[in-house]
Amino acid sequence: MDRKIAENIYYIGMNDRTTHRFERLWSIRRGVSYNSYVVADEKTAVIDTVEASCAEAFCKNIEAATAGRPVDYLIVNHMEPDHSGSIATLRRRYPEMKIVGNAKTLQMITGYYGIEEGLMEVAEGDTLSLGKDSLTFYMAPMVHWPETMVTYSNNTKTLFAGDAFGCFGALDGGITDEHLLFEDYYDEMVRYYACIVGKYGAPVQKALQKLAPLEIKTIAPTHGPVWKRSIDKVVKVYDELSRYAAQRGVVVAYGSMYGNTASLCEEVACSLREQGVEKIKVYDLSSADISEVLRDIFLYRGLVIASPTYNNELFPPVRELLDSIAERTVKGRLFGFIGSYTWASAALKRCNEMAEKHKWEVLPCAIEQKQSRLSVSDHSIENFAKQFAEAL
Ligand code: FEO
Repeated sequence: MDRKIAENIYYIGMNDRTTHRFERLWSIRRGVSYNSYVVADEKTAVIDTVEASCAEAFCKNIEAATAGRPVDYLIVNHMEPDHSGSIATLRRRYPEMKIVGNAKTLQMITGYYGIEEGLMEVAEGDTLSLGKDSLTFYMAPMVHWPETMVTYSNNTKTLFAGDAFGCFGALDGGITDEHLLFEDYYDEMVRYYACIVGKYGAPVQKALQKLAPLEIKTIAPTHGPVWKRSIDKVVKVYDELSRYAAQRGVVVAYGSMYGNTASLCEEVACSLREQGVEKIKVYDLSSADISEVLRDIFLYRGLVIASPTYNNELFPPVRELLDSIAERTVKGRLFGFIGSYTWASAALKRCNEMAEKHKWEVLPCAIEQKQSRLSVSDHSIENFAKQFAEAL
């Protein structure tokens, strides 16, 4: 496979198709790639490493890309161990190699890997010459950790972007979007953003504004394809997601122990469709993949939440979802609440308490079901759907 992505720059990353859960949390049925790159100029620089389990094969990729030359510099854009996990291996293999990072990064390198020697500190706008090419560093704090920075190749106009513009999904038979389709990775990009970067909309916006003046011919992120042809599309996705922009559509997410709340939600979904809402996603939170629910919440403006009362609280998977939404400071969404109970009503109250706390926009006409559908009129379902569709 041709690993060259620009003049003197080679892809040396790894596909991971065996890990079940990224960060031990998020499903990755299509796998994930840990992207790393070599700039093989008069001096050689590796940009980021890979997860520790891939270190041995990763080193072989480096040797092939450098034709056996030693590595002069390791640039560390981001310290999360999916990218920093092979730093210690590289240091043992290339003891003269300088490890380049900002002050926060170097402190983390010492903290994680006990490395104190051969570190080189850089700051905003510093440039490192490699020969024909040179690398300039821009700080991008909280995209996705506080030490995060991006690195720009001045000769090739390549942006080594860290987690920004990345996505889930291993690389299926190519490296750049000259061989891989953006459309095949779109869902995985939104899901990745919603799960991993979703809390950091404001820092992503700041980074986008800072990088806007740069001429960029290639975006080389730490996950997913290298972008050359789809740069406008990828930047648009990240811009929209970080502004919490939403399409017209509704996620109906419910908990249901014995099916009463579930069947009510099926009716609400049908009624929303009758009211002209075209995009509707219904999820049973006891079995749904939470990462897919979050993905769709980042895509669509409407969110109908339905919960039974459980121990005088929300049903646990519903509470978990609402906490995840609050953590990500999701804005500009319309919430509609459905509560159910058998002898003491609490779920609807808890939903409204959360909405008040987080200043969520809530449809005033909630539905509350006592024991079964027998307690809910057809009219109240239709009215709920009608008002929700109008407010969407
Ligand atoms: Fe892919 Fe934040 O690490």
